[in-house]
Amino acid sequence: MNLMDERTEKMRQLEERVRGCGDCGLCAGRTKAVPGDGSYSAEIVFIGEGPGRDEDLQGKPFVGAAGKFLTEMLADIGLKREDVYITNVVKCRPPNNRDPLPEEAEACFKYLDEQLKIIRPKLIVTLGRHSMARFLPGLRISEVHGQAKRVSGIFSEKQVIFPLYHPAAALYNGSLRGTLLADMRKLPLLLKKIGESN
Ligand code: URA
Ligand code: SF4
Repeated sequence: MNLMDERTEKMRQLEERVRGCGDCGLCAGRTKAVPGDGSYSAEIVFIGEGPGRDEDLQGKPFVGAAGKFLTEMLADIGLKREDVYITNVVKCRPPNNRDPLPEEAEACFKYLDEQLKIIRPKLIVTLGRHSMARFLPGLRISEVHGQAKRVSGIFSEKQVIFPLYHPAAALYNGSLRGTLLADMRKLPLLLKKIGESN
């Protein structure tokens, strides 16, 4: 099997495991688990918090209002959803969209970890503070949004994390919206720089 087929095979198997997972309490309330969506060879992986109502019904990440906004921002920088991989910290919808509990995020993290190890993206973009906290614990999103950070130990020695505000938070807040758009527009150059330094 070539590398491409192997990666596809691994990701499909992982997505199947997520669809049948019962490892935390969130499995009880879900309609569909939401493993992730997009290219298995993406250079960028976007990580949100957890599925909302629309995502739970369709089994796909970021397909509701926040997702539409994310898709528009991607288009603004010349990217299609199929060019990137989009997923969440927890793969099943928390009841009434509450924040995932620490034990739920902990139980689900193995899947995100595996997804990142298979895809090996150049850049991990976290959306919102919960997603950021998995990779950059202790930092404040108001202070570090739009600043690339290098961390070690996810799947390589040097992994770049780019923390952004969550599109749902920015959707109806004029100033956050402008900030998120401006941060997002830094992405193409950042990706180019990472490519050159590798
Ligand atoms: N918000 C998220 O964090 N993830 C989704 O998939 C949709 C909305
Ligand atoms: Fe399994 Fe994650 Fe869903 Fe919990 S949220 S049941 S760990 S897939």
